[in-house]
Amino acid sequence: MDISILKSLLCNSVNSIKYLEEVDSTNNYAKRLAFENIDDQLPYLITTNDQTKGKGRMGRVWKSEPGENIAMSLLLKAPDGFSNYSSTTLLSALAVVKAIRDIASLSCLIKWPNDVIYDTKKICGILTEMISIGNSNYIIVGIGINTNSNLFPDEIKDKATSLYIATGKKISREELIAKTINYFMDYYNDLIKINDLSFIKDEYNSLLISKDKEVILSSDNIPFPENPYISRGIDSNGGLLVESKNGQTFSVTSGEVSVRGLLGYAK
Ligand code: BTN
Repeated sequence: MDISILKSLLCNSVNSIKYLEEVDSTNNYAKRLAFENIDDQLPYLITTNDQTKGKGRMGRVWKSEPGENIAMSLLLKAPDGFSNYSSTTLLSALAVVKAIRDIASLSCLIKWPNDVIYDTKKICGILTEMISIGNSNYIIVGIGINTNSNLFPDEIKDKATSLYIATGKKISREELIAKTINYFMDYYNDLIKINDLSFIKDEYNSLLISKDKEVILSSDNIPFPENPYISRGIDSNGGLLVESKNGQTFSVTSGEVSVRGLLGYAK
């Protein structure tokens, strides 16, 4: 990774960048940084060539071929009174889809809330975490993009793909990181001003893989009694609107409910 190229492409959208040859998890590194009194250096981007303990959502492990993919975390200080944390997750998925479109000319879709999918397989995962230190709240947006890898562990090889597999071309990680972060920071600054997702709702819904399709809902692995529902897209708070068979529509939030398509992983 060439950090001087990355810095020049980032157009001052972040204040600090840290590149690590190897780290346990860029999210964990960002968390440790937040304790170091470095508010004046935020937003802070951390990226690495290799994570030894990459973390996924719901306590899962995130595995990635060293040197080939993108693993990065952005540490942000939430403004006073800001409570829209889960919305940052949706914004990051949108930023990744747009950056991939620009850099790799590939059209991906989003599986709510924040998996980026190409051809029914996952190409990017996002783990957003929050921490409070004293009176301050910090947001850590962790993004893993399967970029140039050709190899996946057996347990995920049927569910995962990479930009290289999809396009046959090696992609510049510096360019893709910079585009993603630049898009994200623009969206995030709008979110802080507007305080809801009304400004990207239509764009997000146009990329939603389950839009107007049947989905299965569950909470703590217990399926909802009226499955399947029809997914109608997100509302302005980032919840997913779902319609039951009797025509009632309600919003579910990502912390509470998991959603999957009827035809396997991503549909
Ligand atoms: C998921 O889909 O389960 C989320 C995966 C998030 C992976 C990224 S890679 C960079 C950052 N550091 C981590 O340990 N996890 C996130």
